[in-house]
Amino acid sequence: MKMSRGRLFLATCAGSLFVLVLYFQSITKPEPGPKTHSGSGKISSLLQTHDNGDQLELLADHQPLQSRRELLEQACLSHTRKRRVLSPDDLKHLIVDDKHSLIYCYVPKVACTNWKRVLMVLTSDGRYTDPLSIPANEAHIAGNLHTLSEFSVPEINQRLRNYLKFIFVREPFERLVSAYRNKFTRHYNTAFHKRYGTKIIRRHRLNPEPDALERGNNVSFREFVQYLVDPLTQQEEPLNEHWERVHSLCHPCLIHYNVVGKYETLEPDAEAVLRLAGVEDTLKFPTSGKRITTDGNMAARFFKHISPFYQRKLLNMYRMDFLLFNYSTPDYLRTR
Ligand SMILES: *[C@@H]1O[C@H](CO)[C@@H](O)[C@H](O)[C@H]1NC(C)=O
Ligand SMILES: *[C@@H]1O[C@H](CO)[C@@H](O)[C@H](O)[C@H]1NC(C)=O
Repeated sequence: MKMSRGRLFLATCAGSLFVLVLYFQSITKPEPGPKTHSGSGKISSLLQTHDNGDQLELLADHQPLQSRRELLEQACLSHTRKRRVLSPDDLKHLIVDDKHSLIYCYVPKVACTNWKRVLMVLTSDGRYTDPLSIPANEAHIAGNLHTLSEFSVPEINQRLRNYLKFIFVREPFERLVSAYRNKFTRHYNTAFHKRYGTKIIRRHRLNPEPDALERGNNVSFREFVQYLVDPLTQQEEPLNEHWERVHSLCHPCLIHYNVVGKYETLEPDAEAVLRLAGVEDTLKFPTSGKRITTDGNMAARFFKHISPFYQRKLLNMYRMDFLLFNYSTPDYLRTR
């Protein structure tokens, strides 16, 4: 039914047919999608007709990933009411690889630098072969990778329907503490100190030193938490992506991700994604040298200094990320 344009080019045509057949037969490996535009004009209309049944079996050989998807689906049904309409602006975090039919929603502090490097290798036409040869700052330059928000609505719908969509998440408070440590306790992060630190100190520190007000250095975790839960913060501007909730960055109840990877099981989950993308022989996800802690000890250390009142507020703020991705309320909290 979508073949009319494909006839122009036999290879594309054959490729499209291949995809359509596989797509409806529940495949184990997605191929480049048909190059026809078949969108209906509104992103939401696609999302409502999006067929999950086919995609579920995509992961039949990977039980944990499939159960995670089902749990997410269920949590979305139980905890979200209104169906929001997505606009292209909501899709700025979704990175597109047209060569391998991939969509990756990047979440800062969840191995996103390495995923961006991997996607740069995949989309580079051979310019890069080793992800780690790409400097971290280059991986973050806007424009080195394409995001879904750059496409027209029909192009967006076509990609959402046919591409393998994946996301990586992390225990919300571990991610938050990681963001705090990285952005506020490293002396070299002067831009964050200036941009956010000065504001936090002005609002949440009693009798601040002039130097602290000027530079925004030495923001404490407690001050950072007070800033986060202050209603004024989100009235002024959207939260910075490093501490914005995954729920708001990636819209996991509207976009049906095929794979929900976890930072806590980064290596096997990344391997599964690369296998589904059909590039496991050419590329390995760079994880070496990074010790992944999953015991919650780091966050526990920082939360010791947060009062039950603020712990409760913060838990409420990140509630959806806990629920949607099956993270239980940390034992170290004193919220009751
Ligand atoms: C959800 O979390 C619980 C408790 O950690 C775990 O036993 C269960 O397997 C998880 N479910 C899924 C689908 O990951
Ligand atoms: C604040 O940070 C500066 C460097 O950024 C450091 O030299 C100073 O000792 C810190 N002050 C306090 C009170 O921790």
